Amino acid sequence: MQSKPPFSAIILAAGKGTRMKSALPKVLHQVAGLPLLIHVARACRKAGASRIYHVLGFGRDQVLAALRAHGESFQEVWQKEQLGTGHAMKVASGALSTDDALVMIVNGDGPLLRPETIQEMLAFHLKNRADITLGVMDLDCPYGYGRVLGKGPRVARIVEEKEATDKEKKVRRVNGGLYLVNRKVLDQFLPKLKPSKKTKELYFTDVVGLASKARKKVLAFPVDSEELLGVNDMKQLAEAQQAIRQRIVNAWMLNGVSVEEPNSVWVDVDAHCASGAILEANVRLQGRTQVESGARISTGSVLKSSHVKAGAQVHSYSVLEECVVGEGAQVGPFARIRPGTDIGEGAKLGNFVEVKKSRIGRDAKASHLAYIGDADVGEGSNLGCGFITCNYDGENKHRTVVGKNVFVGSDVQVVAPVEIGDGAYVAAGTTVTRNVPAGSLAIARQKQENKDGYADRIRSRAKLKKKD
Ligand code: UD1
Ligand code: MG
Repeated sequence: MQSKPPFSAIILAAGKGTRMKSALPKVLHQVAGLPLLIHVARACRKAGASRIYHVLGFGRDQVLAALRAHGESFQEVWQKEQLGTGHAMKVASGALSTDDALVMIVNGDGPLLRPETIQEMLAFHLKNRADITLGVMDLDCPYGYGRVLGKGPRVARIVEEKEATDKEKKVRRVNGGLYLVNRKVLDQFLPKLKPSKKTKELYFTDVVGLASKARKKVLAFPVDSEELLGVNDMKQLAEAQQAIRQRIVNAWMLNGVSVEEPNSVWVDVDAHCASGAILEANVRLQGRTQVESGARISTGSVLKSSHVKAGAQVHSYSVLEECVVGEGAQVGPFARIRPGTDIGEGAKLGNFVEVKKSRIGRDAKASHLAYIGDADVGEGSNLGCGFITCNYDGENKHRTVVGKNVFVGSDVQVVAPVEIGDGAYVAAGTTVTRNVPAGSLAIARQKQENKDGYADRIRSRAKLKKKD
C-alpha cells in the first residue's frame, strides 16, 4: 500500500467577516459548540496534515487565544493588513518550510468539511498528477461564490461574484474555497497576482487562471455542496449549525440512539450518546456531555459537559452542568444541578431541587423543593420538601455533612458548617445549628398552642371591619 504523502495545510482566517455584522472575528463564531476555525483545523489534522498554518489578522489575539484554548498545535502567519485572499497567501508562502512540497489551502469559514473528503481529494490530486486541484460545488443558487469556468474537469479560471458578467453569473459550478496546490506552482504564480480593479484586493483565485493559462494541470474535484458551505453571514451560520447537528444526530441514530424528534435536538460535536440512549424532543447536549446506554433525557432538558450513566433518567426541563448522574438515578422534572455535583446510583432529586458542588449518596432522595449546596449526603438518606443548606455566611462557603440513612423532615434549614450523624432524625420545621449525633432526633421549633373557637371570633371581627 502506498504510504500517505505528507501535506501542509494553510487555513485562511484573517478576514473580519464584514457580512456577519458582528464585532467578533468571523472564524470565532460557533457552531455545535466550537468556533468555525476549530472545526476546520480539526478536519485538517484528522486528514493527516503534517503542519497547520493559520493566517490571522483581524482579532488576532482573540483568535490565537481560542486556538490555544482548544489545544491546537499550529504555526501562526500574521497578515497585518487584510488585502484579500491572494495577499494572505503571499504572506503565508513566505512562512512555509522548505519541505512543504504539497499545500492544502482552505478557507477558515467552512466548518462542514470532512477529513475523509480532504483525503479523497488528496488521492485524486496525486493519481491525476495535477498541479492544482480545486474543490468545487454545483449549486442551484451560486450567488456570492466565485464561479468556476472551464471544460469538463479542466479549470480555466475563477471569476468572483463581484467581477462576473451576467453570463458568467449563470454558471452553477462554484469554488468551494478548498485547494491542493503543488508548492512550485504556488511560488511561480503568487508573485504574478494583480489587485482587482473593482475591489483593489488580491484574489488567490486568480492563481488558478494564471496557472491554467501557463498550461498547468488544474482540475476540479466535486464535493458535496453541504460540505463546502462558507459562512459569511448569520443566516449561513444557522444553516451550518443545522447541517452539523443533523450529521451528528443521524450518526447517533444509525448507532442505535433513539431520537424522538431529530430536528429539535441540539448537540455539540464533543457530546456523545451511546447506543440504547433515548433523547426526547427539544433536548440540548452541550460540551463534553456523555449519555450512556438506557439513559433517557426528557423534553426540554439542557446538559452541559455532564455524564449521565446507564439507565439514569433526566426528566423534563432540567438543567445540568458539569455533573455526574449515577446509574439508574433520577433527576427532575425542573431540577437544576450545578457544577461539581456527583449523584450516586439510584438516587433521586425531584422537582425544583437545586444542587451545587455536592455528593449525593446511593439511593439518597430529595424529592421536592430543596437547595443542597456544598454538602455530602450519605447513602439512603431522605431530605424532605423545603430542605435548605444555609451554606454561605456572606463571606465564606461552609460544608454540610449528612450521614447514611438519615431522615430529614420537611422545611428544615441546616446552618453550615454542620454534621448530622448516621441514622439520625430531624423533625420538620427545625433549624439545625449544632451537630446532630448519630441515631438521635433533632427538633427545634416552638410548642403549638390551640385556642378553642378562636377562628370564628377572627372571622366576625374581619366582617365588621369590611362593613365600615
Ligand atoms: C472566497 C473565494 C470564492 C469562493 C468562496 C468560498 C476568493 C477571492 N474568493 O470568497 O471564490 O467561492 O471563498 O467560500 O478567495 N481572508 C484572509 N485574509 C484576507 C481576506 C480573507 O485570511 O485578506 C480569509 C477569511 O478570513 C476567510 C477566507 O479567507 O476565512 C475567505 O474570505 P471570504 O471573505 O470569506 O471570501 P469569500 O467572499 O467567501
Ligand atoms: Mg467566505
